[in-house]
Amino acid sequence: MKQFDIIALGELNVDLILNNIEGFPEVGKEKFAKQMTLTLGSSTAIFAANAAAIGAKVAFCGMIGNDSFGDLVESSLQAKGVDTRFLIRQDKHATGATICMSYDEDRANLTYQGAMDYMGLEDINPDVFKEAKHIHISSIFMQSGVKRDLKKILELCKANGVTTSLDSQWDPTEQWDLDLKEILPLVTVFMPNETELKFLTRKATLEEALEAIRPYVNAAVIKCGSKGSILMRKGQPDRKQEALLNKNVVDCIGAGDSFNSGFITRLAAGDALDRCQEYGNMTGAVNTTAAGGTTAFTSREDVERVGRERFGWR
Ligand SMILES: Nc1ncnc2c1ncn2[C@@H]1O[C@H](COP(=O)(O)OP(=O)(O)O)[C@@H](O)[C@H]1O
Ligand SMILES: [Mg+2]
Repeated sequence: MKQFDIIALGELNVDLILNNIEGFPEVGKEKFAKQMTLTLGSSTAIFAANAAAIGAKVAFCGMIGNDSFGDLVESSLQAKGVDTRFLIRQDKHATGATICMSYDEDRANLTYQGAMDYMGLEDINPDVFKEAKHIHISSIFMQSGVKRDLKKILELCKANGVTTSLDSQWDPTEQWDLDLKEILPLVTVFMPNETELKFLTRKATLEEALEAIRPYVNAAVIKCGSKGSILMRKGQPDRKQEALLNKNVVDCIGAGDSFNSGFITRLAAGDALDRCQEYGNMTGAVNTTAAGGTTAFTSREDVERVGRERFGWR
């Protein structure tokens, strides 16, 4: 028996969010931000927290420093019900941080990757591969160690009967250097958004991008924002699903991560891929009803109730 339904692997940092900023940052000047929040950051942590909230048994394997940001990361994950036994605390590298400067709908982010950039396969406790039903990796371009060892990590998952998901997320270097031909056959479900898929495949249209990955995928779900998502499965027609459209979006922070958390929680529970897509569609929509990436995720009951009452989800 595996101890965890899902182990989230890699990207982990804190967010220092500045709001109500008077003007834009300028070199040589000092300005005021009128509001500040220091909180658990990273797309992978939002994913882990929300999967735990809707009932999955989740652990996190990531690298942090022996510092106060590391303490904040660890205690925040625990408060969200995420097991922290596989966190790697070390003295060489500080815990990463993102400074998020919010301007209305948009944000300017500056990230110091810190410890998460250094974690590689050699740092990971081998029990991670024995105790997980499923391993989720996100933001591959934020972590050069995991990216370097990705093929080996995925092969180890396969050898241990662990299913896997990969969400590329944005590439801050905009090189989009990922060998899809080599990596995708090793991934159970590939989960980029539409824009990322076009950059990864170097194609201008979504249709061309889908055909570019088709020969290599086992399954993929492409997130298309308020348009919904497309599920691709080997040997089956693609399944398009409209979003459960929220016309009063509070914000879309973490919508993709929340979609992933619903999809993967159901996958680890043994549901078929089309049902996973429907559930992810619901959790993605529910995410947009509250501020930030985790606020709407209090319990499975609450999330499903909002899904039913606001979006007619069944
Ligand atoms: N306005 C919206 N109403 C309902 N659901 C939404 C809305 N925007 C996004 N979603 C859901 O969230 C999912 C992920 O959003 P998307 O923006 O594509 O991902 P990412 O956050 O990774 O860029 C979508 O596939 C959809 O299911
Ligand atoms: Mg995303």
